[in-house]
Amino acid sequence: MAKSRSSFVCQNCGAVSARWAGRCDSCGEWNTIVEELVDSGVGAGPKSAKANGKPTQLVPLAGETESAARVMTGIAELDRVTGGGFVKGSTLLVGGDPGIGKSTLLLQSAAALASHGRKVVYVSGEEAVAQVRLRAQRLGLGEAEVLLAAETNVEIILATLEHGNAPDLVIIDSIQTLWTDRVESAPGTVTQVRTSAQALTRFAKKSGAAVVLVGHVTKDGQIAGPRVVEHMVDAVLYFEGDSSHTFRILRGVKNRYGATDEIGVFEMTALGLKQVANPSALFLDQRDEGAAGSAVFAGMEGTRPILIEIQALVAPSPLGTPRRAVVGWDSSRLSMVLAVLETRCGVRIGANDIYLNVAGGLKINEPAADLAVAAALISSLTNSPLPPDSVYFGEISLAGGIRPVVHASLRLREAQKLGFRSVSTGRLSAADRTRDLEVTEYSELAELVGRIA
Ligand code: TYD
Ligand code: MG
Repeated sequence: MAKSRSSFVCQNCGAVSARWAGRCDSCGEWNTIVEELVDSGVGAGPKSAKANGKPTQLVPLAGETESAARVMTGIAELDRVTGGGFVKGSTLLVGGDPGIGKSTLLLQSAAALASHGRKVVYVSGEEAVAQVRLRAQRLGLGEAEVLLAAETNVEIILATLEHGNAPDLVIIDSIQTLWTDRVESAPGTVTQVRTSAQALTRFAKKSGAAVVLVGHVTKDGQIAGPRVVEHMVDAVLYFEGDSSHTFRILRGVKNRYGATDEIGVFEMTALGLKQVANPSALFLDQRDEGAAGSAVFAGMEGTRPILIEIQALVAPSPLGTPRRAVVGWDSSRLSMVLAVLETRCGVRIGANDIYLNVAGGLKINEPAADLAVAAALISSLTNSPLPPDSVYFGEISLAGGIRPVVHASLRLREAQKLGFRSVSTGRLSAADRTRDLEVTEYSELAELVGRIA
């Protein structure tokens, strides 16, 4: 057995230090440093790959290559986010809160691939084979030709995978349950997770299989412990959603083989995840038309336009420091919009309690939502409902101006498709102007405020 040495690893950021400390110097988190015993061979790769002075081959940059071979699942929402299917020989991390539906999504994709005659191995470290079978039966996939294993030891998993034909897809559910003999720390610690992920990445490259690692996310939004894993894998997808709502969003955050700004929308039903082809209709389904404080935002998620309802409630505050509660949007962005309304438009709003909610539990991070937020706030403050057939988009500047945003024509087309008639936005370019909708182009926020109030 190789000599072990101990090192102190931050479970939040993965920084290694020589001695224990209450606070990690690297990320500033408290109480995250844990002593881990590491086999001195870890990180050096397989023995044969150790530097022995043999030169590697240099090749010209220009040259023939095949485009990355992919395995498509046929689940369009998933294939869109991966950029056209799982890439063979690559490793992909799917992160998300516990219970959000990661295992369900991957079991469904495994079954879809297996039905096209692909060899798919599903390794469950969290559930016993019987539990996975039960879930598959519940999803109506009881007959799918997916190979199952309930195993957590990396060496055994690799030995199993290397036996027989190389699989097309391997799913490891989850990376936090794996442990390898080479490291003595507990499963789930940074060193275990990193070493296990390294071994599986190496297997993917060598065998040409696409490997999907499932990872749980901590409450502050990091894939638990292994932010380090995010750097090692080729693509990172997050599966998000609010457990009190039925729809789920698969979002690409890193992709070496495709765009990262795509999302896939699913709905969790009693029969598993269903694809949502028209998300706008879903998000606007339960809209309180005619209620003050509700505005429809024409947003973009990747290349796809999505209409979303933004709800605001402005209420007189009994407190010295009024409350601000924001769900689904950036609270500092809300403070900015409020400050602009107060200072540039003369709207007295700051002393109220303010609640802002993106309906359906969706998270928006586009500045283009500023205008819709402002419209919802003014509508609630003045108790004047906005016209139910109008949408809003535009970025607000600190000077109180409205800036144009990208993809205006896609947003307009989506609004028209869903039966909206009027649009409030910033200046449009001549190419984006349309005759089909009644578009009002504002250059100052104050003009819009005057219209609503
Ligand atoms: P799961 O895939 O186990 O989540 P994760 O792997 O991310 O922890 O999904 C768990 C939740 O999904 C569970 O609360 C039940 C729900 N669910 C359904 O609503 N319908 C279904 O068909 C399935 C399989 C699960
Ligand atoms: Mg699971």
